[in-house]
Amino acid sequence: MKTLTLRRPDDWHLHLRDGAILQGVIGDTSRHFARAIIMPNLVPPVVTTTDARAYRDRIIAALPNGDRFEPLMTLYLTEHTDPDDVEEGKKSGLITAVKLYPAGATTNSHGGVRDLDKAMPVLERMAKIGLPLCVHGEVTTPDVDIFDREAVFIETVLDPLRKRLPELKITMEHVTTADGIDYIKSSKGNLAGSITTHHLIINRNAILVGGIRPHYYCLPVAKRENHRLALRAAAISGDARFFLGTDSAPHVDPLKECACGCAGIYTSVNTMSCLAHVFEEENALDKLEAFTSLNGPVWYGLKPNEETITLEKRDEPANFPPKRETGAGPITVFDPMFPLHWQVVEK
Ligand code: NCD
Ligand code: ZN
Repeated sequence: MKTLTLRRPDDWHLHLRDGAILQGVIGDTSRHFARAIIMPNLVPPVVTTTDARAYRDRIIAALPNGDRFEPLMTLYLTEHTDPDDVEEGKKSGLITAVKLYPAGATTNSHGGVRDLDKAMPVLERMAKIGLPLCVHGEVTTPDVDIFDREAVFIETVLDPLRKRLPELKITMEHVTTADGIDYIKSSKGNLAGSITTHHLIINRNAILVGGIRPHYYCLPVAKRENHRLALRAAAISGDARFFLGTDSAPHVDPLKECACGCAGIYTSVNTMSCLAHVFEEENALDKLEAFTSLNGPVWYGLKPNEETITLEKRDEPANFPPKRETGAGPITVFDPMFPLHWQVVEK
């Protein structure tokens, strides 16, 4: 039997929601991950340090007994965000990053930024104090095709912003295109990218071939096969600018399986098994630890975890639950469409 021991991984982009969903899903992350960057797109969003502190307390309270897990909190950037509050959040150790959602780009982003000029005072302060900006990198203008939104964002928003404020540290989250990968690789610093589990596994056919499959729909939407291959190459390269952000985004099934389904794929349950499969397929199991456990901490200025996890490759594929039942309803677990032989050895 093959085994693989890694430093305990972190998830650099995670949606935990609140209330009954938080309660139902938190254990799927804290079982394997030591830390995660927690997305602030609640309803209403987490916009002030006071909101973030209260949300952090609710996450800690929802943790299964005995699990050690550190939520790394973010603030949802608005055109009215107060630079002093952001600085205070960073100084107190509560805030790890600020999140930019272009208004209308994704789930609960209507309160996001319409005019980046209005957010410049906050961004300048962040550059000064060394607080990273996490970016949902898609434009939302209706004339841009949904499959081109990331590439157009890089050209029309991200690159101009980086030229205007080169000191600002930016994480391009959930990169989905070869354009994004190339842009990060060509940058001379202050830019890194997170990659999700599912974008390493599916291309857009998963959503559309043989019927419409809402559980493969997320934002940014999965792209063509050449893009998936570019993401894989970056993830397995060991390049310190690329690391895991699962973007695990739970929605209860009735909100996915309907005429206007929500975007989001729930991968926390089986992410480590999926990733071991992908990295083995690429003959790169020796690079998995860099992607899940080393590159992210370096980028965010944190120490890698001391604890380890061990994965085993078993003859019998794992039996993950097809759905996570929560007090708010069932949430379908990501199906990678291949059997998962790698499993984390549960302590
Ligand atoms: C996320 C969500 O549901 O909050 N959805 C998704 O498809 N990834 C928002 C996001 O990160 O875009
Ligand atoms: Zn997300």
